[in-house]
Amino acid sequence: MDKIKLKVTNLQKVFPANGRKEKDLDALKDINLEVKESEFVVMVGPSGCGKSTLINIIGGLADATEGSVEIDGREVSGPGADRGMVFQGYSLFPWLTVQKNIEFGLKMKKVPKAEREKIAQEYIQLVGLSGFENALPKQLSGGMKQRVAIARTLANQPEILLMDEPFGALDAQTRVVMQELLAKISRETKNTILFITHDIDEAILLADRIYVMSRRPGTIREVMEVNIPGERNHEILVTPEFLAMKRKIMEMLWQESQDAALDK
Ligand SMILES: Nc1ncnc2c1ncn2[C@@H]1O[C@H](COP(=O)(O)OP(=O)(O)OP(=O)(O)O)[C@@H](O)[C@H]1O
Ligand SMILES: [Mg+2]
Repeated sequence: MDKIKLKVTNLQKVFPANGRKEKDLDALKDINLEVKESEFVVMVGPSGCGKSTLINIIGGLADATEGSVEIDGREVSGPGADRGMVFQGYSLFPWLTVQKNIEFGLKMKKVPKAEREKIAQEYIQLVGLSGFENALPKQLSGGMKQRVAIARTLANQPEILLMDEPFGALDAQTRVVMQELLAKISRETKNTILFITHDIDEAILLADRIYVMSRRPGTIREVMEVNIPGERNHEILVTPEFLAMKRKIMEMLWQESQDAALDK
């Protein structure tokens, strides 16, 4: 059986009231989820349903009110090198070149210079940035910056990659290019990935499995396997299997948004 990399059990998050007039805010409720080794899991849900809160708790950047997060069967609390995070903002060091940005984590781990240069080179090639080793972040487009951020995180060889809307700031075409790149990388490197988005196309294009979340307080509404054979690229966006799945998820999210608007 496939090994379970990440396990989240009965997770709840309440943001306590700030002052007398506010009420406590239930952000997440009864969240149970698993990501198996080499699996690409996507969580999709409406804005404000608690997606970032969840991934930040898994990444150890925030505490859960209740419940547990385990990596390889060990419960985690704070952040750790076992989890590599990629956010919508590129969070590169502006004064470091592409190469040095990618080497940064390895340098912190005291990997010798020659070795870290070799590792950085591998990931530069993987994300298609050969020739830009000496460029500074300000000289790069958004898509290229996100390639650097992905390469930097992969170079640290985390047990799991946690990605929170990493392509959210990109234009539609660049976004698809980056989705195809990530689909290819994940299949080549067999990385374990938990990816968060509110974009249904993106979710289906990338995922082996999709967790659909409800509106706030975020719960897991449905778990769906994506069984679309062959390469994951833009061509599948119009296949009948893809569209059938898209319709199903759209209807669920539509209902959630309508309930939210009517405050049911
Ligand atoms: N530090 C905080 N203190 C109080 N409330 C917070 C805090 N962080 C998030 N929230 C609230 O928790 C809820 C979930 O927020 P979160 O950012 O996790 O949603 P999201 O699903 O990532 O939304 P989006 O799709 O817009 O990124 C929101 O109602 C938000 O206002
Ligand atoms: Mg968010």
